[in-house]
Amino acid sequence: MLELSRTVRFCLNADGGFEGGRHNTYAAWPAPRGLARYFELVVTCRGEADSVTGYFINIRDIDTAVRKHVLPNMSDAAQRERSGGPVRLGPLLFEMCDALQPALGHTVFSLALRLTPYTSVLVRVPDMPRFVNYKQRYEFSAAHRLHVPGLSEAENRDVFGKCNNPAGHGHNYTLEVVVRVPVDEAGRSLDIADLDAAVDRHVVTPLDHKHLNHDVPAFADRNPSVENIAGVIWDMLAGNVPGAGDLTEISVWETGKTVCTYRGPETVEPAAD
Ligand code: NI
Repeated sequence: MLELSRTVRFCLNADGGFEGGRHNTYAAWPAPRGLARYFELVVTCRGEADSVTGYFINIRDIDTAVRKHVLPNMSDAAQRERSGGPVRLGPLLFEMCDALQPALGHTVFSLALRLTPYTSVLVRVPDMPRFVNYKQRYEFSAAHRLHVPGLSEAENRDVFGKCNNPAGHGHNYTLEVVVRVPVDEAGRSLDIADLDAAVDRHVVTPLDHKHLNHDVPAFADRNPSVENIAGVIWDMLAGNVPGAGDLTEISVWETGKTVCTYRGPETVEPAAD
């Protein structure tokens, strides 16, 4: 089984038109006109590669299918929103997914609509139409010192190097949170501002501009490695997701080169009799 993801970048222009050639799918097709609204849609399909062509699906077909079957839904929704009608993101993506399936041989597994460079809404076919996922990014700055009291000074310096500096050092951390939220009968799921408020209260405020070793109780006897920071953030947020949602994944970037993703404690399968 292969999984192929294609990011389709497009603009919704005020005139609602989709004309214009497929000349620059790197930037956006349709291209922006005036004060356009820019989106990215990540289409993930699952299947097998053809033994002759090596293709599972032609990415050109994905671009064309999105332009033909998704853009009208998006354009209509934007028009409804301008007229004062609420847009329910979950049902909108379910509709878009259903519209794409016949054009792509019913291979679509998930759709992720990037609303901003930092915020995405995502649906997975097995969860439709009950759940929708939201992905949102945050930042915080903190100091820490990597040090384990049970190791000698020399061992600490050997393992942690300059990160063992006694006075600590700082990072600008980026946090990405993924939550899965039920969709109610009216199509409502989550107001992203509520997620922001919860993450701000339960995670960012307790950690931001703090020395993790000294100021954050969870690190009193736990080394604040990026792995442990990810686990601690999970514990801070897991019971506090708004909209009856569940936390499904968090990622913490310590630098632009290092990221740790945590999906929660492993489920232990009961032993067979
Ligand atoms: Ni560090």
